[in-house]
Amino acid sequence: MANILGIGNAALDIINIVDGYPAEDDEVRAINQRIVRGGNVANTLVVLSQLGHNCTWGGVCKNDFFGQQIINDLNSYAINTDNCKMELEGSVPTSYVTLNQRNGSRTIIHHRNLPEFSFTDFQTIELTNFDWIHFEGRNVIEIAKMFTKVKQVCPNIPISLEVEKSRPYIEGLFAQVDFLLFSKTFAQYHINDAALFLQNIRKLSAANLVCAWGVDGGYALDTTENLSYSSAYPPSQVVDTLGAGDTFNAGIIDSLCKQPKLATALTYACKLAGKKCGQFGFKGLVD
Ligand code: FRU
Repeated sequence: MANILGIGNAALDIINIVDGYPAEDDEVRAINQRIVRGGNVANTLVVLSQLGHNCTWGGVCKNDFFGQQIINDLNSYAINTDNCKMELEGSVPTSYVTLNQRNGSRTIIHHRNLPEFSFTDFQTIELTNFDWIHFEGRNVIEIAKMFTKVKQVCPNIPISLEVEKSRPYIEGLFAQVDFLLFSKTFAQYHINDAALFLQNIRKLSAANLVCAWGVDGGYALDTTENLSYSSAYPPSQVVDTLGAGDTFNAGIIDSLCKQPKLATALTYACKLAGKKCGQFGFKGLVD
């Protein structure tokens, strides 16, 4: 099992489960509500931890009741939070999620007023403890410095970068990593064709490239230019797609920690993400 460091966001998810997505200016009643810890990297680590890896989180949290709930939840999955930066000002990043029980769609309004995890924060982490470092593509300028440090201190550790949203200059990070994990949303911002998207990205980076494609599965382009496709593996009933992409990323990382083939990792990640969509949250995802 691998020692995995994840750098990125943990959040509070306030999830209202509704029977059909409301129209604008409507007033509807939630049939259920769940208040849980979320955040892309935090979700990915929670899945990786259940798959047996030793996980450490590097990120920012608010030192208040909800911040403590986030830390407690991560610790309950044996995720090390010693490198978390606790802020006295601001508030816990919060996602207001409308989860439509008819199709599992999740609509997110995210609020954030905490600083991002900085290079200064990152410098306190003992990098030689890790076998894999996974980054959420957020504060590009600081992450670039973190990459430089990883390359200096432990040049052979695989680095993966999740690219979920378009951020200024994020393309400048692509050449620095071993694995680029793209969301469908990011790809579609450029072109509505995953295979073509990955081939275009190849001009910017020699990394292994992966792109999740939701109900249509996912695509990968490895460093030998082998393009692979996996179908999705939907559950009999989709109930919760919140964090399906984060689970997919965990599947890619877990598989590659155990075997080297990107195509094998892709199929496994699609299966794991499919399984997640059939259940609420992440607990018990791994038998
Ligand atoms: C799901 C998620 C939620 C979180 C939101 C942040 O992918 O990580 O748990 O609140 O996205 O954008």
